[in-house]
Amino acid sequence: METAHAAVTTTRLKDYLPPAYLVDSVTLDVDIHDGVTTVTSELALRRNPDAVISDSMMFNGEGLTLRSLALDGKVLEEADYHYENGELTLSRLPEQATLVSVVDIEPEKNTALEGLYMSNGMYCTQCEAQGFRHITFFPDRPDVLSRFRTTVRADKKKYPLLLSNGNPVEQGEEDGRHWVTWEDPFPKPCYLFALVAGDLACLEDTFTTVSGREVALRLYAEHRDLDKLDHAMESLKHAMRWDEETYGREYDLDIYMIVAVSHFNMGAMENKGLNIFNTSCVLAHPATTTDAGFQRVESVVAHEYFHNWSGNRVTCRDWFQLSLKEGFTVFRDQMFSADMNSAAVQRVGDVDFLVNHQFPEDQGPMAHPVRPSEYQKIDNFYTLTIYEKGAEIVRMQYHLLGAEQFRKATDLYFERFDGQAVTCDDFVDCMAEVSGMDMAQFRRWYSQAGTPILSVEAEQEGDDYSLTFRQHTPPTPGQADKEPLVIPVRLALLDKNGAPVALDQDGLRETVLILDQQAQSFHFPVSESVTPSLLRGFSAPVVLEFDYRPDQLATLLAHDTDGYCRWSAAQRLYFAALDRLVRGQGNADEEAVRLAPVLEQVIDRAGEDPAQAALLLTLPTEVALGDRHSPLDPSGIHMAHQNLKQALGKVLQSQWLSLSENLLATELQMDGVAMGRRQLRNLALDYLAAGGHHEAARIAVELFELPLCMSEELGALRVLVHHRLPGAEQALQQFARKWKDEALVMDQWFSVQASAPGEMTIDTVERLLAHPAFDWKVPNRVRAVLGALAGSNPSAFNTDKGYKVFTSALATVDELNPQIAARIANAAARLHRLEPSRQQVFRGLLKSVSEKASPNLREVLARILAE
Ligand code: TRP
Ligand code: ZN
Repeated sequence: METAHAAVTTTRLKDYLPPAYLVDSVTLDVDIHDGVTTVTSELALRRNPDAVISDSMMFNGEGLTLRSLALDGKVLEEADYHYENGELTLSRLPEQATLVSVVDIEPEKNTALEGLYMSNGMYCTQCEAQGFRHITFFPDRPDVLSRFRTTVRADKKKYPLLLSNGNPVEQGEEDGRHWVTWEDPFPKPCYLFALVAGDLACLEDTFTTVSGREVALRLYAEHRDLDKLDHAMESLKHAMRWDEETYGREYDLDIYMIVAVSHFNMGAMENKGLNIFNTSCVLAHPATTTDAGFQRVESVVAHEYFHNWSGNRVTCRDWFQLSLKEGFTVFRDQMFSADMNSAAVQRVGDVDFLVNHQFPEDQGPMAHPVRPSEYQKIDNFYTLTIYEKGAEIVRMQYHLLGAEQFRKATDLYFERFDGQAVTCDDFVDCMAEVSGMDMAQFRRWYSQAGTPILSVEAEQEGDDYSLTFRQHTPPTPGQADKEPLVIPVRLALLDKNGAPVALDQDGLRETVLILDQQAQSFHFPVSESVTPSLLRGFSAPVVLEFDYRPDQLATLLAHDTDGYCRWSAAQRLYFAALDRLVRGQGNADEEAVRLAPVLEQVIDRAGEDPAQAALLLTLPTEVALGDRHSPLDPSGIHMAHQNLKQALGKVLQSQWLSLSENLLATELQMDGVAMGRRQLRNLALDYLAAGGHHEAARIAVELFELPLCMSEELGALRVLVHHRLPGAEQALQQFARKWKDEALVMDQWFSVQASAPGEMTIDTVERLLAHPAFDWKVPNRVRAVLGALAGSNPSAFNTDKGYKVFTSALATVDELNPQIAARIANAAARLHRLEPSRQQVFRGLLKSVSEKASPNLREVLARILAE
């Protein structure tokens, strides 16, 4: 059967070849008219001295209507070039040449949101990874770095603002139209190109760099959102200062701009001097944005800013090296957030995210190395493995070298490779060179997929305490055999009172063991009974197996000074209880009675750090619990989870009640402590409602009616809706009336409903997809419903109806936006864990979607459907 999509091709790292020609400069003219935009480009080509000599060169171009091509002033006829399947090849090129092309594109019809497209009446671009080829002919690969000079032309009244990278150098107007020319002095790959034309409001400020240069900071959004830009501006200034102080990196242009757009496939994009952001990652106001939203804005603004050095000044040689910029930049933004807020809470939050999202990816059909060796669509490899595991690999290097040497190594990296496109190996080389360490085995972290399992056994004999470590990485698709990795294990041994005992004669209280073999033992001169506090700070991204006794877990939770180890102890206690309930071995009330004294301790100390307490008191998700039991029985998991929560709600009723009432603030504050208190109160209210307390609905409704901020309002709404309390329906209607014009708030309204635990929610989801405010073309809205259903509501998702609703939605999204469809399809990765009859139903539906799917979606489904 004839399909609309091109043949699927695989790109391999081992086939990498440098480009035959370089593009020293690009002069672009983008002439925007309703319905059609004409792009004229002039490329200064020069034979690449570092490539095998060749006189032919390939340029990418997709969805372009070619109007003319000229080489060194001579118009090319069809016989002079070859243009097929998105590739334009020119042969018999001289040493240097100028290629001029004129093409037409149709941004108004672009729903895939890559290249030039429209969002709420403004034109904007997204070029990473391979969007630039949808704008003009170009070698669309990150190792071609060029100086860009861009002229944007449009109707002056409708598009008073015309932006591109760098500095504005010329402008003019004629007959109601105007134009602005921008010049970016820094050579860059085309994936960092950006352009915006629109009518936007601007928040302006300045930043004086460490060397005394004044930089204009301009944040742009739709006029109605001008009051939601202050937090992003503060975050940006903090990030700029932090990068100077922590990495010695200064900003390099005279202007830094951020534009907020409503239609965006990802979080944000680090285009040189002109970041483009999903509104959800830049707009923030206490009335409309939750506390988590505020923190996300801070970290994404910083992330994109940090890319100016880790990504832009030093970029990637090819897309297999994506984690070179993403893993490093995530590590940088995590450390920044730790410095801006509570470091312990930040670390636990990051680990929680990694363990609950990246680990499942690494253990399923989509598992791939941090430096993949092949892909079909690179868009599908913007994954948690590249970002989050990549950040952990950089973090391990940070700890192996120590802060000081690490800084020397990054200085070397930025100096040596400034203005170049390099590899993950180049990064590690700097670490090895500065420290003198042999990093050969460490590099396996980049090439080997899968989550290592580290099992530990303790043995006590007289005054000898020994720990034996065994590492094992299960096979992943295409990688059957695994080799031992370098695993740093930070540890302490805690006595009965939770104090660390001496590990050697000198009284060392904490140490780091560097494992590099399949099995290794270590001995400590310790005679008393101890509790090992292992993998402190989550010193390596591994699954740690140790047969802790319940009293040891209680000791860790009560006394460990390491935030990660406390959290991990709590998780182990919860999982142990939940596992028994899932297997039908336990009784929820008895489990809750057993857990109560341990949790009470946490609650008693909650005042020290309410956010930390909230993390410790939060049960693992149903999804995480489901991953521990095979085959997956979603309703059994749901019951076990609900029963334990209910029992905990009852046993600690008076504590939940007093937390719900006493943490009430009378005045709005946005600092970390206030946010932590709100988080803890929302959690307490959730437990109170789970326990069926008669006051829960009243407290929730009161909070909902008179909230100080969105975290309170949404927290209350969530409790009402998720526990199906009286007043829930009315609250939902009221909320929708109040917030109908605030898209980001309405996203929350959709997702709070789609994530209400329980099978019957699938009917709600069906209604939500048909709701007049649902819009298939807005990725945020699609994620709010489908992401919530598939990612956090396993008992509704894993039903015959769930599979039908999901797959038919997937097909609809795919016709508009293949990148988003492929991302959402990842939620089907647990297919092979379902029991046979369920699996058969879901498999059949996925197969039929796959037959008509885009290459993006097809790649993901093929991996999932593979036996
Ligand atoms: N580089 C972006 C980041 O900071 C990622 C990104 C933004 C992206 N938009 C995209 C990747 C669209 C692929 C497609 O993480
Ligand atoms: Zn990034």
